[in-house]
Parts: sequence; structure tokens; C-alpha cells
Amino acid sequence: MKYYDKLIFECSREGRCGYSLPRNAFPAAGELPAALRRQAPLALPQVSEPDVVRHYTNLSQMNFGVDTGFYPLGSCTMKYNPKINEEMAALQGFQGLHPLMPARLTEGACKVYEEMDKALAAITGMYKFTFAPCAGAHGELTGLMLMRQYHINRGDLKRTKVIVPDSAHGTNPASAAVCGLEVVEVKSLANGRIDVEALKPLLTDEVAGIMMTNPNTLGLFETEIGTIAALVHAAGGLLYYDGANMNPLMGVVRPGDMGFDIMHLNLHKTFSTPHGGGGPGSGPVGVARKLVDCLPAIRVSAFHGNFGVILRAYAYILALGQEHLRKVGQYAVLSANYIKESLKDVYKLPIEGVCKHEFVFDGLINDGAHDDVPGATTLDVAKRLLDYGFHAPTIYFPLLFHQALMIEPTETESKETIDAFIEVMRKIAAEAAQDPNILHDAPHNTPISRPDETTAARNPILKYQENS
Ligand SMILES: Cc1ncc(COP(=O)(O)O)c(C=O)c1O
Repeated sequence: MKYYDKLIFECSREGRCGYSLPRNAFPAAGELPAALRRQAPLALPQVSEPDVVRHYTNLSQMNFGVDTGFYPLGSCTMKYNPKINEEMAALQGFQGLHPLMPARLTEGACKVYEEMDKALAAITGMYKFTFAPCAGAHGELTGLMLMRQYHINRGDLKRTKVIVPDSAHGTNPASAAVCGLEVVEVKSLANGRIDVEALKPLLTDEVAGIMMTNPNTLGLFETEIGTIAALVHAAGGLLYYDGANMNPLMGVVRPGDMGFDIMHLNLHKTFSTPHGGGGPGSGPVGVARKLVDCLPAIRVSAFHGNFGVILRAYAYILALGQEHLRKVGQYAVLSANYIKESLKDVYKLPIEGVCKHEFVFDGLINDGAHDDVPGATTLDVAKRLLDYGFHAPTIYFPLLFHQALMIEPTETESKETIDAFIEVMRKIAAEAAQDPNILHDAPHNTPISRPDETTAARNPILKYQENS
């Protein structure tokens, strides 16, 4: 352990402090009732300013982020977030806003919402957006509430089922259940796309709609989307588009033109605002013209959503413009296909063909299993990548494959970075074939080695414990 890896409480020395204020600068707190007065000094660490700076700087370096390295976390679109977005969000006129300010002082913010509404409508083919939802899953819930409201407004009360493909992101069935809808699963074909023949008998007059993401969570474009949209509409249902996978489509294809009626976008992914660790996010929901009357009926958050995230996304759209937004998807698709083709002789590729912005391997072709030594798993590969300075891809999702390893490079990585990643992935495959134990014990070079994940989940230690 390095000296500065110590916890801040362990650096504490009686009487040491990081500031000096003039004596008697503040009036005594004599008027406070005795019962409210502190009886013993607050147990804060007593440390100098350099101790504090070094402690937090070292802590920050133990973390991994897009600003420190390649982060190919499938389904999460961990693209680089341009710093110009931060500068725009930090402008005094925006930063000092409060939602209760009078309308005459918030005209600029209203203009941003108005312009974003227009921009997102142009990008997606939707008619109108609400910016209230604060995450992708929150957008899903909002969209499904709108779907229900649409049927209720038409007096069609028995539509309480929503169809979700077996490849769907976990939040889709979860949002449907939270919305009080019954989830009906539709199977995928061996080529990873929705089985249209299996869908047909599910389309009864109890179906409110279908939730889909396209490209789906395998990174594959649902080529039958035109037929699916026609079938769902003919059965009286609506189509919901999970726009978390919008990155490869921007400026190329619009969900509205594919037949979708409602959708959310993950501004914190596709539109380049920092995310991870649970937020902040923004999941604006767009609707087709026929649903616009339902919008005011649904209130999902106080005020107007996460304005700072919307602002960053607005700066991103303006900085790129129409021409370069289109290139985002093209480069993201190129990068993903380049990695897939460069590694498919050492990692199992369950579905051949061109992918969109991400793809899924099903573990190693040669996992090195021999005698009593178990082979290297997807978890082992992910942990070993950390040793080489790369963030791990998403693992064990989607659930369609046992050893799923889902890679999404995004458009913001250089060819050199991608080549370095490919080289390391090949090196790990060679290590596994030679001696899988190197991988079983990984990571070896990170501040924390492999934790016992069962104990960590069942018996978490969430706060500082003296002598722990
Ligand atoms: C396909 C898909 N749908 C929905 C979501 C949910 O978005 P959020 O994490 O913002 O709630 C994600 C998040 O990664 C996703 O990948």
C-alpha cells in the first residue's frame, strides 16, 4: 500500500488543520438552546491542506473514466465528452437559474428547450418531446404511461399487455411492470432478430404495444421493422422505441420513419454528456403527432428535467451540425466492425454479419481448460483487461449467450487506441490458451484486486470502520 492510499481518518493528527481563521471572527453560538449544542467536538480528521489534496487526488486516480482510458462498455455508449459542453453548461446565466424564477428571466432556457425540441424532432422523426424524464428507464416509464393514456383516451381499456423481445435491455420489462402492464416475451431467431412468425399470434386486442430497440442489444438492425410496424398497428397497438441505441442511426435513419410512435433518447449517452455511477441523466420522450394530446396528462418529475444535461446535449448538436452528426454513427459502426472482424478468430462470434455500433462475443474459442484447471471465462477476460489499462466491456448481457462479452467502442476512439485494444484482447486469448490461471487471478495491477463478489454483495462494508 502506498502511503497516500491511507484513509483520510488514518492521516489525522491531533491539532493539525488546513486553514487558519482569525480568532473570534464569528459571534459565539451562545443563544442556541443547550439541548441543541454539540457536547463533544465533531470527529473530523485533523489534516493539513496538502494531505487533503493528495488524498483526494490519489482517490480520483484509482477510478477509471473516459478521460483516462478506452471504455468499450457495450450498451452504455461511453464516448468522449467534449469539454466545450461543460463550458456552455457552466455559463453564469445558465448556472444561476432556478425553475421558480419569473418567466422574463428564463427566456434563454426556454429557448434552449424549444431549439432542442426542434433538433430532436428532426433527428428522430417524432413530433414533440417532453424533457421531464431524468434517465433512459425513466423515459421508458413515461413513454409507456403515454401509451396507456392513448388507449384510455380512446376508451380502449383492455389493452394492458406489452410485447418485449427476449433480447431486450432489462429496463424494458421492468418499466412495463412498474407501469402496471403485463409483459409478453417474443423470441428471437437464430440470426438475433425478432421472430415475426412468433410475433403474429401475440398481437391480440389486449396488446397496448411493443417495446423495441433498433439496432437491438446484439447490435443488429431489425431488418423486418417495416413488417413489424405494420402488424402492430394493424392490431391496434403502438410501437415504443428504446432510443438508448440511437448512436449508429443519427442522421441516417429515423425511428419515426420506421413506424415508431413513442421513443426516448439517452442524452447522457448518444448526445455526449458525462454519465456513469447513476447519473445525472436525461431521457426526453418524443411522440408522434397522434399522441401529442397525451403529453400534458403525464407528470414524471418536478419542474423540467435535468437542464444541465439538456444544455450539454444542445452544445454537442450545435458543435457537430447535421453533417457531422451523421458521421458519428458511421464511425461508431466502422470501429465496432473493425474490432469484431479482428478478433473473431480467437473469440466466439455467435452471429456473423455486419453489426451496428456494438457486437457480442460468446467467450473465448480456446479457454485453456485442461485436466483439473477450469477454462478462462468472460469474467476472467474482463478482469484481465483492467491489468492492461482498458475498461472491461459489458459482460453476461444480453442474456442470450452464456459467456456474453459486449463491446461498444464508439466513434471517438482513434485507430491507434482501437488497435492497442485488439492487440491486448489477442494477448489475453493467448494467455488463456497457455495458462488460464493468469486470468483467474486477475486483475493484478489495479488498486483493488479481485474481490470476493458474493461476500461483497452479501456483507458490504459501506463506511469507514476503525481498525477494519
Ligand atoms: C438498451 C438500453 N435501454 C435502456 C437503458 C436505460 O437507460 P438508463 O441507464 O439511462 O436508465 C440502457 C442503459 O444502458 C440501455 O442500454
